Amino acid sequence: MQDKLQQLKSKVLHELKAIKNSDALRDLEVKYLGRKGELTEILKGLKDLANEEKPKIGALANDVKKEIEEVINNAKWEIDNALSDDAAIKEKIDVTLPSGLATHGHLHPLTQVQKELEELFKSLGFFVATGPDLESEWFNFDALNIPASHPARDMQDTFFVDGNSDTNNRWLLRTQTSPVQIRSMLQYGVPLRVIVPGKCFRNEATDARHEHTFHQLEGLMVDKNISLANMKAILEAVAKKLYGESTKIRLRPKFYPFVEPGVNGEVTCFLCRGTGCRVCKQTGWLEIFGAGMVHPDVLRAGGVNPDEYSGFAFGFGLTRLVMLKYGIDDIRLLMSGDKRFLDQF
Ligand code: DAH
Repeated sequence: MQDKLQQLKSKVLHELKAIKNSDALRDLEVKYLGRKGELTEILKGLKDLANEEKPKIGALANDVKKEIEEVINNAKWEIDNALSDDAAIKEKIDVTLPSGLATHGHLHPLTQVQKELEELFKSLGFFVATGPDLESEWFNFDALNIPASHPARDMQDTFFVDGNSDTNNRWLLRTQTSPVQIRSMLQYGVPLRVIVPGKCFRNEATDARHEHTFHQLEGLMVDKNISLANMKAILEAVAKKLYGESTKIRLRPKFYPFVEPGVNGEVTCFLCRGTGCRVCKQTGWLEIFGAGMVHPDVLRAGGVNPDEYSGFAFGFGLTRLVMLKYGIDDIRLLMSGDKRFLDQF
């Protein structure tokens, strides 16, 4: 009896080696452990043993049974998890089953609007550039005609970053995309048509209308004989693309140190079409960009001769465009990473 049990065990182990799928494993289990299985038959014979043999052989039989059960269970687990095994894959994945799990992601609303504008500007001959989030004081302020003493620096509460040994040119998180105007002129020269979408940072107390991280889209066109009329034409094309053919733009003087003259650009409110509503605060107009003719000092900082070339620049609040487009009333939602919010777009 003892021998029989040992033989049976080695038979099971031997046969198990050849088994690759769960059907074959189930057959093996039935063959040995089933109601009429070989081990079951042996166990049934226990009752015919002499009384003094019963405990010893009984214990051995139980051990063998447990061992066999264990190796079969292990083999089951291995088959279920062996996804690299072709047979197991075929068995496990029913390709005809409708899948409830696969969800498709999509672009962030900011990226969607950014891409739309990139396409439009590319069709107008602009190319898309990027610049570093970690900027130097010179690119972010000085080169843009905002010297250290200038009150305009206070308008943009800045995150300064330790680490630059040159204390006159500290590192900071760029407060605007405008420094890439200078970088582009230095890198690519003129004539130039470039747009720069990207993140900006300000040391703000955050609320529904203020956030430390937001997005802008900067633009710069430099060539011979560029005038305010060229600027207006381009910005009008953008406004019509964003808010429809009947959209008008309105330019009103506004001071920005890096342009002269500088303007504040508004478009017909897309909701009330100019009659006045909640979105435009009853004015009929929405302020969406700053712009102007590039200041000669800025051209010089970019290595361009202002006697020969002129240009215009503009900056859209990309975040603001997105909030207006989708009626988002809290800016903090945009960078929150909250999937429940993002799933709506
Ligand atoms: N950089 C400005 C800001 O953050 C926006 C701006 C205004 C950009 C006028 C321009 C411009 O290029 O010409 O408020």
